[in-house]
Amino acid sequence: MCAQLSSRSHLLPESPFRQLLPYAETAKKKGIDVIHLNIGQPDIPAPAAALEAIHEAFYDKLPYSHALGIESLREQFAAYYSETSIKVNPADVVITNGSSEGLYFVLFSLLEAKDEVLVFEPYYANYSGFAVMADVTLRSVTLHVENNFDLPSSEVIEQSITPKTKAILFTNPCNPTGRVYEYEEMKRLGELAIKHDLLFIVDEVYRVFSFGKACPSVLEIPELRDRCIVIDSISKRYSACGARVGTIVCCNPLLLTGIDRLCKLRLSAPFVGQLFAQAALEDTSDYIKKVKKAYQRRRDLVYQRLTQMPGVETYLPEGAFYGFVKLPVENAFHFCQWLLEQFSHQGQTVMMAHGAAFYLTPGMGINEVRLAYVASEERLNQAMDCLEAALQQYPHSTLTPVIAHEAR
Ligand SMILES: Cc1ncc(COP(=O)(O)O)c(C=O)c1O
Repeated sequence: MCAQLSSRSHLLPESPFRQLLPYAETAKKKGIDVIHLNIGQPDIPAPAAALEAIHEAFYDKLPYSHALGIESLREQFAAYYSETSIKVNPADVVITNGSSEGLYFVLFSLLEAKDEVLVFEPYYANYSGFAVMADVTLRSVTLHVENNFDLPSSEVIEQSITPKTKAILFTNPCNPTGRVYEYEEMKRLGELAIKHDLLFIVDEVYRVFSFGKACPSVLEIPELRDRCIVIDSISKRYSACGARVGTIVCCNPLLLTGIDRLCKLRLSAPFVGQLFAQAALEDTSDYIKKVKKAYQRRRDLVYQRLTQMPGVETYLPEGAFYGFVKLPVENAFHFCQWLLEQFSHQGQTVMMAHGAAFYLTPGMGINEVRLAYVASEERLNQAMDCLEAALQQYPHSTLTPVIAHEAR
C-alpha cells in the first residue's frame, strides 16, 4: 500500500474540535447520549425565508459564480456594512468558501513565506493550521483570565513584534474566550499596526453576537482603512456553517489583487450557498435579535452552573457563543477523552474541545476546555449535570480531597 505523506501535512495540527469524535461515536454505539459542545456549529434554525428561497429557486444547472462572488451578493454585503457608519463598496467585498478560505487567502496572498503574524492567545485553534498552509509563523502574546483577557500595554505587545512581523491577526469577539474588544482597544492595536507598518487582519465572524456592549468593526476606524482586512462569514450569524459562504472585506484595492488571483484559481464560491446568503441578508425579520437573546440566555445559564462547581474558574463571555473554562484536572485532553470513553451520567455525557490547542505556548491551556453553547437550555443543563458529576468522579482531579473528620 502506498503511504506517502508530505512532511508539511505532519505539521498540520489535529483539530481539537473533531479529534475525539471516534470516542463519541463509540459512546453513541453503547447507547450514550453525547451532548456536543465541542464545535461551534449552531443548533438554532437558519432564517426560514432564506431556507425557503433555496428550496423554491429553480435552476437547471449549478454554475460557477463570478470568481469574486455573485455581484448582487457583494452589493448586499456592502449595503450590510454601510448600514452602520462603515462605508464599503461592492468592489471591497470578496466572497469566499467560508471565512476559513478567506483566512488562508489573506495569509497566502499578503505575506511572504516565514513572515511572522502576531496573535493573541488563546486564539481560534484553526489559525495554527492556516499558518502552516500559508507557510507563515505565528508569534503570540498571552492574555489571561485573571485580567479579563485585557490586552497588555503597547510596550508589552511590542516585545513580540520583530523585524519579521508583518501582520496582526485578531478576533473580535474572541473565540474561545468570548471577550469583546471595544473601539479604543482596537484603535490602540491599530496604532501599533501603523507604527510598525503591519497589516491588521480582524476576524469578525461573531460580531453580531455581543451582549451588553457593542462590538465595533475595525472598518470603523478611519486611520486603519488602508491596512485592515475584515474576515467575516454567514456560518455563525445565520446558522449556516454548511453554506460555506464567507467574505474578505478590504478597502485597499491593491491588497485585493493577490486574493483576486486565488479566487480565479479556485473558480467559484458555492453557488447554492451564495443564494442562501443573499436571501438571509435580505431577511428583514428580527432573526438576529432573537438568536442573540437565545445565546445570551444560554451564556447566563452555563456561566451560572460553572461558577457553582468547585475548583472551576471561568469568565463571563461578552460575545460569541463559547465559554473557556479552567477545570480542576491535570490534563483536560485526557479528561475530555475519559468523559467519552469511561463516563456517563443518567445515560449522557458531554464532548468539549481541549484548551491547549488554543495556545501557541507549550504547556498553556493544559487544564482548560472550550464549550460551545450550541444546544438548547435543557440540553445545556444536562451537559452541566454531566460535567459536575464527572468532576466528582474523575480519578485525576486536582481538587484537594475532602477529608472526613471523625467526631471525637
Ligand atoms: C473565529 C473563527 N473564525 C473563522 C471560523 C471559520 O468559519 P467558517 O469557515 O465556517 O466561516 C470560525 C469557525 O468556528 C471561527 O470561530
